[in-house]
Amino acid sequence: MRLLEKNTYEEMSVLCGRILGAQVLLKPDCALGLATGSSPIGAYEELVRQYEGGLLDFSQVRTVNLDEYCGLKAEHNQSYRYFMEEHLFGKVNIKKENTFLPDGCAGDVEAECARYEKLVAGMQVDLQLLGIGHNGHIGFNEPAEDFAAQVHQVKLAESTIKANSRLFKRMEDVPRSAVTMGIGTILKAKKILLIAGPDKADIVEKALYGPVTPQVPASALQLHGAVTVIISKQ
Ligand code: F6R
Repeated sequence: MRLLEKNTYEEMSVLCGRILGAQVLLKPDCALGLATGSSPIGAYEELVRQYEGGLLDFSQVRTVNLDEYCGLKAEHNQSYRYFMEEHLFGKVNIKKENTFLPDGCAGDVEAECARYEKLVAGMQVDLQLLGIGHNGHIGFNEPAEDFAAQVHQVKLAESTIKANSRLFKRMEDVPRSAVTMGIGTILKAKKILLIAGPDKADIVEKALYGPVTPQVPASALQLHGAVTVIISKQ
C-alpha cells in the first residue's frame, strides 16, 4: 500500500488524474473502474485537460462504474450515469458503448446484479478509482456483518442518505437503495487508487491501519497488493 499526501484538493486531483491518464497512455484499451461523488470531480477535470491538450485518446478505453442508485433513470440529474456524462464521458472521445454502469431501473434487480458481476469480471479492470464514505464504505458497501463478494443491491445507511441529500431537493427524493460492486468485485481490479479529503482522515487511518473488518468495508483494501491512496491535508 502506498500513501501519498498532498496539501490541497487540487493537488490531489491533479496527481490522481495523472495516474489515471498514465494508465490510458500505457494501455490505450484499458478498463478503468470509476467512481462518482465529490472526490473524483477534480481528477476528471484533469483527465479532460489532458485530453484537450492532445495527450490522451479515450477511443479504445472501457469504463465500468462502481455503483448506481436504484430507481433513477439515466437522464435524472442525480443518477450516476448523468454524473459521468457531465464530468467525463461527454467531454472526451470515449465511445458511449464502452461505458458501463449498473442499470438502477432494471425490473429484475437480481438478474441485473448477476449481469453486472459477469461484465466486470470479463473486463479485468486495470485501475479502479475509489472514494470513501465517512463510515468506511467503498462503492455502496456499507458497514455490515460480512464483506459482500459480488455485485448486489444495498439498502443505504441513514448516514449515507443524509450525506447524499445535499444533492437532492428534498430528503424524500434521495434513493434508499443502490446496486454496487461487492468488495470481492472491487478487489479483482489489478490496481486500486483511493482518494480522500481531510474530512476522511480518521476513517482512512482506520481502514489502512486498523483491523480488517466488514464494519470498516475499506479495510478490505489491506488484502490487495497494489493499492495507492492519495489524501489531501486541506
Ligand atoms: C461513488 C461511491 C461512493 C463515494 C463515497 C464518497 O461512486 O461509490 O463510495 O466514493 O460516498 O463520496 P464523496 O466523494 O462525495 O465524499
